[in-house]
Amino acid sequence: MKKPVIVIGADHAAFGMKEYIKQLLQDMGYTVEDVGTYSRRSVDYPDYAEKVAVAVTRGRNKKGILGCGTGIGAAIAANKIPGALAALVHNPRTARLSVEHDNANILVLAGRPYSKKIVARIVRSWLTSKFQGGRHLRRVKKIRRLERSYR
Ligand code: RB5
Repeated sequence: MKKPVIVIGADHAAFGMKEYIKQLLQDMGYTVEDVGTYSRRSVDYPDYAEKVAVAVTRGRNKKGILGCGTGIGAAIAANKIPGALAALVHNPRTARLSVEHDNANILVLAGRPYSKKIVARIVRSWLTSKFQGGRHLRRVKKIRRLERSYR
């Protein structure tokens, strides 16, 4: 299957991590769409969560990687966009499970503090995992139903 385009965004607190991940992805042969922020100047994380989540849910063959200081605000905001399945993860195992069980289309990471080594392992784990379907598909369909029911 063709490699997805990776839409990447972060606030100021995760800017350094975003720049690092962008280079990592390019080295892995991915096309990267960087929606900002483009400096360490203070910005609001919901703006970048929106940009990433809209691009992923409206795009074709796109996945997102998003960051803010803790990853919490960005994940909450991204999951307000219908179709977004944004998962805040902290290690390669939960990165893998967020795809295998939850079909996460957006990986959310804490940028403050971050270790390049663990970030690289998380990103690789997330990108190489596959949704397992079966009982997990039933559960993800229930999430979609919740989204439709409480618009
Ligand atoms: C910004 O200082 C910080 O609040 C933000 O990056 C994030 O951690 C929010 O959840």
